[in-house]
Amino acid sequence: MRMYDLINKKKIGEELSEEEIRFMINGYVDGSVPDYQMSAMLMAIFFQGMSDKEIFAMTDAMAKSGDMVDLSAIEGIKVDKHSTGGVGDKTTLIIGPIVAACGVKVAKMSGRGLGHTGGTIDKLEAIPGYKTDIPQDKFFENVNKCGISVVGQSGNLTPADKKIYALRDVTATVDSIPLITASIMSKKLAAGSDCILLDVKTGSGAFMKTVEEAEVLAKKMVDIGKIAGRKVQALVTDMDIPLGHAIGNSLEVIEAVNTLKGQGPEDLTYICKELSASMMYLADIGDMDECRAKVDEVIASGAALNKLVEMVENQCGDSSVIKNTELFEKASIVHKVVAKKSGFISHIDSEKCGIASVVLEAGRETKESPIDYASGLILDKKLGDEVKEGDVIATLYTNNQAKVEPAENIIYEAYVIDDEKPEERPLILSQIM
Ligand code: URA
Repeated sequence: MRMYDLINKKKIGEELSEEEIRFMINGYVDGSVPDYQMSAMLMAIFFQGMSDKEIFAMTDAMAKSGDMVDLSAIEGIKVDKHSTGGVGDKTTLIIGPIVAACGVKVAKMSGRGLGHTGGTIDKLEAIPGYKTDIPQDKFFENVNKCGISVVGQSGNLTPADKKIYALRDVTATVDSIPLITASIMSKKLAAGSDCILLDVKTGSGAFMKTVEEAEVLAKKMVDIGKIAGRKVQALVTDMDIPLGHAIGNSLEVIEAVNTLKGQGPEDLTYICKELSASMMYLADIGDMDECRAKVDEVIASGAALNKLVEMVENQCGDSSVIKNTELFEKASIVHKVVAKKSGFISHIDSEKCGIASVVLEAGRETKESPIDYASGLILDKKLGDEVKEGDVIATLYTNNQAKVEPAENIIYEAYVIDDEKPEERPLILSQIM
């Protein structure tokens, strides 16, 4: 078999066989297929697409390129959740403890942030002492004991995805539905949970800018998960404006804690409750209304917040900052951004807010960039809020004075103030089962 022939086959729109796809993925991982040939193949896939059969073969080959985590040492049904990435998306920190408090097992591997989107592992590392790289037997023990553990991805999970994603990033082939599907689903299949809830984001801060594109991606991922024998469901949710008010690691942990106390922002609370209920529904806990009632119960009783405390302690974290969020280290500079005119907030560009948080050093420009856990921003005004000239619309937190002015300029670009109050947008746009 020659990679040249496979590239040519895809270029003219023919279907690749399972054997050919396995040859290509294994060859790329072991170095026998060079970057230039894989780049050409990725571009051919970008333009010609892939059949479901091809996407499944690619997902399966990528999943099996490294460790396939066997979660059978954990009792009960294991449910995973994946978000396609967003700004201010701290949902895992809220949903995980809620679902675990309702008796569903969450053995979750999360990623770090890159570019304008944040990552759960960075947020967890804002908690002093929290270890994200515990040994696998300790990970299993924590889930069996407390119902939840969130760790970083093991070094050898889907090496094919690591290599291909890096290549896609520099060859303008990230925004391809077959390639995103294979990338996300290979990681989910390798991570071993029985049920998978996908939160597919759409809007200005997401890969999929329109609802239609997000629905196509969601449907593909659900289909591939089902072919692999997992229970999968997807919700398409809005990321046109950031979720909640906080962007930045410790600021987001504080907002997550407030939400677990039942004092979170309305949009974040609603999305988290619906995602939690959907995960429990997938795990056969009851019908959606019964699951929603259980979610309300564990928030009201404090059981969900206690789960977060327990999880943090199990992973060597200092839970005093969760019990009293005032103890989080604070940024030395707090800068208020004020409205330049009166009116209604009619849009807040998520991507720009994410970029402002990177400028403030809350996120990474490159994989190696250090991050400042205390920095970030609070969006004091959200969509539809009325403001008068001079009102505070956002607050910037940083330890680096030189970053204030550039971040403020980006926030002025992100906020649109109009005379008319904008129409409300639904937060959950569709559900794919
Ligand atoms: N997230 C992933 O893990 N992979 C993609 O291709 C896109 C988003």
